Amino acid sequence: MPDGTAVDYDGLIPNNVGLNDDLRVRRALETWHPGYIDWWRQMGPEGFQDRLVYLRTAVGVGSEGWAKFGFVRMPEYRWGVLLAPSVEDRKIGFGAHKGEPAWQEVPGEYRAMLRRLLVIQGDTEPASVEQQRHLGATAPSQYDMRNLFQVNVEEGRHLWAMVYLLQKYFGRDGREEAEELLRRRSGDQDSPRMLGAFNEATPDWLSFFMFTFFTDRDGKMQLAALAQSGFDPLSRTCRFMLTEEAHHMFVGETGVQRIVQRTCEAMRDAGIDDPTDVERVRALGVIDLPTLQKKANLHFSLTLDLFGNEISTNAANAFNAGLKGRYREDKLTDDHVLMGSTYPVLRLRDGGIVREDVPALSALNMRLRDDFVDDANAGVTRWNRVLERAGVEFRLRLPHVAFNRRIGEFAAIHADAEGNVLSEEQWQAQQGSLLPSADDNRFVVSLMQPVQAPGAFASWIAPPRIGIDNKPGDFEYVKIEA
Ligand SMILES: [Fe+2]
Ligand SMILES: [Fe+2]
Repeated sequence: MPDGTAVDYDGLIPNNVGLNDDLRVRRALETWHPGYIDWWRQMGPEGFQDRLVYLRTAVGVGSEGWAKFGFVRMPEYRWGVLLAPSVEDRKIGFGAHKGEPAWQEVPGEYRAMLRRLLVIQGDTEPASVEQQRHLGATAPSQYDMRNLFQVNVEEGRHLWAMVYLLQKYFGRDGREEAEELLRRRSGDQDSPRMLGAFNEATPDWLSFFMFTFFTDRDGKMQLAALAQSGFDPLSRTCRFMLTEEAHHMFVGETGVQRIVQRTCEAMRDAGIDDPTDVERVRALGVIDLPTLQKKANLHFSLTLDLFGNEISTNAANAFNAGLKGRYREDKLTDDHVLMGSTYPVLRLRDGGIVREDVPALSALNMRLRDDFVDDANAGVTRWNRVLERAGVEFRLRLPHVAFNRRIGEFAAIHADAEGNVLSEEQWQAQQGSLLPSADDNRFVVSLMQPVQAPGAFASWIAPPRIGIDNKPGDFEYVKIEA
């Protein structure tokens, strides 16, 4: 058996799961591989597929130095199956089986539930690649283009991660699900991706940065909850995926931060004090702060929908079964069973929003969502530091959770960013100041002119403080000239 930290690079599929000695699974994955490559060529990044891109590839799973950087053509990226090292004598940490040894095989009674969890997670990975496929053509710099492609190849690897579990532990139905994951398409009328936010368009780079800030953060929360799983192979898979996910959120957070910075600089240089003087700010070729706020409102609310209903028996069942824990379950100090406990949840009562204590088990989606909001807020605070330092009188903030929802109790009402319930007429009157209008979107899209010279950046975004892998500012991250 491999020791779990070194990755075997000899075969078609780099791995640290001993695929060489696991003929059945190796064959299944090798059979799936051409379909994956077809999918990547059809639905992966448009253009640049034959260009050399400075990408990181995982060569180990230890906390130190798991990545190696080098120039790779994306279709030749070494997508592999990588699990975090196993923890000796690991026990199930929560639910009805708390304290029992973690499962190395799928417990029969939970087979269907576990398969569903894998498929839902797996479906989001290729979906985001599909959503982002047109963005290479309008990248604001080589640095950003490279980051986009890095995120894309890693989402591809995350699909591999889920497909490995399906094929190794679910036999024939696992193979069928793996095929389906390549068949569904983001935004497709007949066979869409499974979750709403993964069928939305990502038409411009501001959307991309907001998506990686908010929606990849949902991914982080889901993976963190699954990393607690009593099904050990899932836990180990998710633990390694989280190390990659951190980079996706970095791309989103610093992307927006650099936009804020550039806008502040341009306003200062032009002597504009009023951030709501949208026309004058836009004339400088930068994105005005009110539009950034509206985009954040949109992506935040779309992402909240991914956490599902306020009250959920599925979430309770997955927790009881020991399959999906809470965020940082192992750091929490309660009984990890939650039979008699309650959790406060915002609910709709007689047309108003009230806080209500409900059984903690049925409120697990909300608990994860609350952890998500806290995590996102920390990033927003860092954006606001840029505004503070620049002396600009404007702060970004997250809207109320009832704002602009399509799933859960608040789908039935309209609310403003403070959580005041609005009538239909009030909503119609306010919508344009809370969500991006067609005009806002047109303006943002108008800025999306490609900048491809090494070291050059579009007018609306500041350069990063540090290059990828500490490369200098004019480093050629993508060899655009083939
Ligand atoms: Fe992912
Ligand atoms: Fe991600």
